[in-house]
Amino acid sequence: MDSIRGLLPTLLVIAAIALLAISLSGCGSDEQLLGKDLFDHSCAVCHSVDGSGGFGVDIGPGSNAALNLTDEQIAGVIRVGPGSMPGFGRLSDEQVASLVQYVRSLEVRSG
Ligand code: HEC
Repeated sequence: MDSIRGLLPTLLVIAAIALLAISLSGCGSDEQLLGKDLFDHSCAVCHSVDGSGGFGVDIGPGSNAALNLTDEQIAGVIRVGPGSMPGFGRLSDEQVASLVQYVRSLEVRSG
């Protein structure tokens, strides 16, 4: 019994390290990301964090770009990628839906 009790702190530390490793292994992939995190990770490189554009077109505040599109059309843009924008077909339906909402929220902020 005493030896098990002595081991307990060590086991807890090992368990904590294992959990940390599991959560860190998610970094670098966008599998778990939603909304803003996903946008910052996958889209901001071209559209910039506020959506104002760069390599990609301005889809941010005041642009009206996505306002003129239906949710289905924005989802299609994300999945297929028009012109020189790459498609993001590997994203889940949930992730695409969260991006559609986030793109809309960027535009709404234009007031
Ligand atoms: C490699 C750069 C690049 C990345 C990454 C990128 N885009 Fe684009 N995006 C573009 C370009 C370029 C266009 C304009 C395409 C065209 O019409 O020729 C565009 C167009 C769009 C449009 C349509 C605007 C309109 O008026 O029709 C939306 C919405 C959009 N992108 C959202 C996103 C989202 C959301 C992501 C992340 C999942 C993303 N983009 C990632 C480059 C990019």
